[in-house]
Amino acid sequence: MNERVTTGMESSNVLIPPPGRESAGQGGRARVIPFSKVVCDGNELAYIREVLESGWLTTASKTKAFEEKFSEVVGARYCCAVNSCTSALHLGLEALGVGPGDKVLVPTMTFTASAEVIRYLGAEPIFLDVDFGTALLTEAIVEEALDAHPEAKVLTVVHFGGQAAAMLDGERGGILALCRQRGVRVIEDAAHAFPAREGGRPVGSLGDVTCFSFYANKTITTGEGGMLTTDDPEIAERVRVMRLHGIDRDIWKRFISEYPMWEYDVIAPGYKYNMPDLNAAIGLAQLERADVLRDARERCARYYFDVLGDRADLDLPVIRVPFADHAWHLFWIVVQPETVGRNRLIELLSQRGIGTSVHYKPLHRMKYYRERYELDPGRFPGAERLWRGCLSLPLYPSLCDDDLRYITDSLVDCLG
Ligand SMILES: Cc1ncc(COP(=O)(O)O)c(C=O)c1O
Repeated sequence: MNERVTTGMESSNVLIPPPGRESAGQGGRARVIPFSKVVCDGNELAYIREVLESGWLTTASKTKAFEEKFSEVVGARYCCAVNSCTSALHLGLEALGVGPGDKVLVPTMTFTASAEVIRYLGAEPIFLDVDFGTALLTEAIVEEALDAHPEAKVLTVVHFGGQAAAMLDGERGGILALCRQRGVRVIEDAAHAFPAREGGRPVGSLGDVTCFSFYANKTITTGEGGMLTTDDPEIAERVRVMRLHGIDRDIWKRFISEYPMWEYDVIAPGYKYNMPDLNAAIGLAQLERADVLRDARERCARYYFDVLGDRADLDLPVIRVPFADHAWHLFWIVVQPETVGRNRLIELLSQRGIGTSVHYKPLHRMKYYRERYELDPGRFPGAERLWRGCLSLPLYPSLCDDDLRYITDSLVDCLG
């Protein structure tokens, strides 16, 4: 019995053997395929060396360069590097003016970070169901929620698994247009969605604020890290101040300015959310290879669709965007209840050395949210159907054809 608690964030739920022990003491396992594996085969070490040699390890020129490159790639006017996507979401909501008692719409099928940041500010999340096929919010779900909660101030959209929600696309012009008509601001949780596109535009250039994650299992990583993008100069300015203690002078400006470094003022009780240069160095190298890494993930996803696409005992994700516009962070399957079932399948795959994860146990089922908001699962049929059978398979650039064949052969075998 696997007693580890899985959060959907871990690198693997299969123990990775120490180097040199791959073939020994594996309990007879043919091989070990972790759920997630970082690929750092570009300029990561070279850029880290530059930082170490510069003697300036925290936020400085590498972070600045990372922001500038990211800004070019996603087509956003302002990029603010921070130490996680969670801090980006917190800063973004704060800059949008969310405060005590405000209502923020958020999907239930997401990681707790999407909703916890609403509570940090004393505001209240209103949980929305998602579409079963895509695990995304749809125009129809958002329209119904806006009608039911005209007081809502902000909508959080999660681009689940790396596929953008219909921000620009739909009978009413898409989710963004619907929100603009009602004066509701939009923050995008793009923790899974770099690089991704919607309606021909990069995610990061669409809503009022977009937040990316560079956690170790994400499509590009800085170890831990995040980025907030916006086209709004006031939001960017507020985020820059609040990410570093509410100090009125940006750390980089203090570093390069003629003005004395020690001279600053504090204009609000801010946070300590800046990204250190050591992390930005990894991010810069990852960014250079982001398209190659994305293409390699797409290759894995195509393999899964080809081999598993016709099975009656599985539902595969519905892809609403061109494959090239998907970041392919996750590949989930939904196991029909009449098979061995999701939980047993996880155990059987784990016995064969294959790491899997679950994205997600929806937030309406989590004690804190369930009890505080008296949430009834019956209100979330799409998320409930997903939750009962969902299982995420390994999806990362270094999976070779042989690994993919081993995963799908094992899966088919275990399903019976
Ligand atoms: C949908 C979603 N939002 C936010 C986060 C938080 O990201 P970070 O770990 O960078 O704070 C995650 C992390 O996995 C996530 O999956």
